[in-house]
Amino acid sequence: MPLSIRPAADADLPAITAIYNDAGVGTTASYDLEPVSLDSRRSWFEQRSRAGFPIVVAELDGRVIGYASYGPFRDKAGYAYTVEHSVYVARDARQRGVGQALMADLVSHARDRGVHVMIGVLDADNAASIAFHRRLDFAEVARLPQVGRKFGRWLDVVMVQLTLPVPEPD
Ligand SMILES: CC(C)(COP(=O)(O)OP(=O)(O)OC[C@H]1O[C@@H](n2cnc3c(N)ncnc32)[C@H](O)[C@@H]1OP(=O)(O)O)[C@@H](O)C(=O)NCCC(=O)NCCS
Repeated sequence: MPLSIRPAADADLPAITAIYNDAGVGTTASYDLEPVSLDSRRSWFEQRSRAGFPIVVAELDGRVIGYASYGPFRDKAGYAYTVEHSVYVARDARQRGVGQALMADLVSHARDRGVHVMIGVLDADNAASIAFHRRLDFAEVARLPQVGRKFGRWLDVVMVQLTLPVPEPD
């Protein structure tokens, strides 16, 4: 069966939670310090879905092997045209185009929604993610030294940005 990218459903939450806890919480890819519960992922899913933000999964042979989503960049109304995304692929499914396929879907959703800027907030040591975003034409726009702390050390953040052309909003 070919790789399919589709909107996430409630039944995908155990897989999404497992991927995030392994790929994000178990590393510096995310600055969450403790594994997240299925219930907290469900609240996140419901909140994002209610607000019309996408959560998409990659499925291969009946198994969810990655997901991507975006949500508000910051709460204030003036940031309405900017989003912050995240993308996670299961370890054993990486470097086979899954992340790229997920991001293509997310960017297409963003274009349809009239999003002007997509921001990724990456750990500076996450070479795979930095190379991945560069390949997808995200530009590095900021480095914030020592804003995170995990595994007993300070962590630097790299912010990357993709600017999408949109008609001037009213
Ligand atoms: C970053 C991540 C999502 C990439 O997903 P992926 O499915 O492995 O990426 P793809 O196979 O689609 O790669 C697309 C391009 O990105 C680049 N890339 C991906 N992984 C790379 C790596 N480990 N080293 C160097 N370049 C890499 C390559 O240029 C690749 O294109 P190519 O195969 O034509 O050379 C994945 O490594 C991951 O889930 N990491 C842990 C979580 C994370 O860091 N998420 C990002 C923070 S939000």
